[in-house]
Amino acid sequence: MAELAILGGTGLTSLHNMDIIRREVMHTPYGEPSGALTYGNLCGNEVVFLARHGYGHTIPPHMVNYRANLWALKHAGITRVISICAVGGIRSDIAPRSLVIPDQVIDYTWSRHHTFFEKDLTQVTHIDFTRPYCEEMRCALAAGAASAGIDIIQGGTYGATQGPRLESAAEIDRMERDGCDMVGMSGMPEAVLAKELDLCYAACAVCANRAAGRSDGAIEMSEIEATLEDSMARVRLLLEHTITSTCRQRED
Ligand code: HPA
Repeated sequence: MAELAILGGTGLTSLHNMDIIRREVMHTPYGEPSGALTYGNLCGNEVVFLARHGYGHTIPPHMVNYRANLWALKHAGITRVISICAVGGIRSDIAPRSLVIPDQVIDYTWSRHHTFFEKDLTQVTHIDFTRPYCEEMRCALAAGAASAGIDIIQGGTYGATQGPRLESAAEIDRMERDGCDMVGMSGMPEAVLAKELDLCYAACAVCANRAAGRSDGAIEMSEIEATLEDSMARVRLLLEHTITSTCRQRED
């Protein structure tokens, strides 16, 4: 039975290296997930794949039903989730094609459904979010990268913006002052919803471009798409090695 899920982001709407076993359409109390859960075999392990923006890449980040996606995975028996997400690099060493395993998050999104704890409560619930990502999964990603010989940047603060527009240069300056190292649009509320469901969740951020104002001229979608296309072979290899790597470090 699958216990690990991969949430694919922009540039990763399918896993070519996975042999598909079946697809399952799930309905949730929070509405419809981004698509059917795709069960497949990756290096001898059964995994579930779900394309966050839909298999045709038609759902923008502010319209993704994050609650339905996470709820569906949880109710399919998933305990661990690897999220693949595209980012713009703010820190100078986070250059296009870099892979980063963030360890912190700052949330600038608004008016997204960001909690399961709002209705029919027996008591008000405030979950701990000191460490937004699961250390065990972050460690497995690092072990996978080492085993595959892939360079990754361990740690960094992910700033989640509302989108779908990209940021202004002044917004990126402010985010840098806040401590953000990279910027993306889909990292929240996904990370907190995973935590509310007690899923072991970590992200692999793929740098698609330098953030606004960090290179000459405008950010072109064609540049983002080409960089992601170019990076996904490494991401697929990283996933293969990660799911076969073990990690001794457990979360506190
Ligand atoms: N900003 C926000 N999200 C992104 C970016 C960016 O520059 N690049 C890829 N996803």
